[in-house]
Amino acid sequence: MPTPAKSAKPAYKIAPSILSADFARLGEEVKNVIAAGADWIHFDVMDNHYVPNLTFGPMICSALKSHAVTASGQPVPIDVHLMVQPVDALAAAFADAGADYISFHPDASGHVHRSVQAIKSKGCKAGLVFNPAASMDVLDWVIDDIDLILIMSVNPGFGGQSFIDSALRKIENARKRIEASGKDIRLEVDGGIKTDNIARVAAAGADAFVAGSAIFGKKDYKSVIDAMRVELAK
Ligand code: DX5
Ligand code: ZN
Repeated sequence: MPTPAKSAKPAYKIAPSILSADFARLGEEVKNVIAAGADWIHFDVMDNHYVPNLTFGPMICSALKSHAVTASGQPVPIDVHLMVQPVDALAAAFADAGADYISFHPDASGHVHRSVQAIKSKGCKAGLVFNPAASMDVLDWVIDDIDLILIMSVNPGFGGQSFIDSALRKIENARKRIEASGKDIRLEVDGGIKTDNIARVAAAGADAFVAGSAIFGKKDYKSVIDAMRVELAK
């Protein structure tokens, strides 16, 4: 059988961050944003220690799991971004709560390789997150073990901040590392992503895009997600 032609464009993923959703109606918000075309649900976990803000824990993730499905019943991955220190116990709790991807900041873990293995041993995909001023040297040692690299294009802790341009160079660097590894690793970007910069971020090498305020800050989620896809198709 002939092998199917490889698509020229990567399968881009749009991951709305429910940090900017209406917390009083979270289940409905998850359903609505999936109906609007979300590929993943980005779940920002903040502990008032690693970052100054405090958000939600594994019980909320578990409660939302049954809402993270398309109208036809297809599960939509829950993309958990841990901004917590220490990492391992909460990572395990989120795995049990139905997370699909679990990403953490390597500077928040005393033993990065162990934390990655702890996530993978639960059957979840593991990601490493890099703050705007963080070095990515740790990838020299763990890139073969991970499924996702998440580049922060704002300082973690709050939604609605402006995109930091140096993230573009970092995305290019991460893309080179992924290509050199030969592994199937997602390259996600988080912070300040809008319709007017998503194409630049994709051109730098990203293939997954977190957007909180850009989507939940508008009434019509579908029109924002559609506009982002139009930009990505350029
Ligand atoms: C910030 C969070 C982001 C946040 C992005 O620490 O990791 O996921 O929700 O929000 P926007 O898209 O508004 O910059
Ligand atoms: Zn995030």
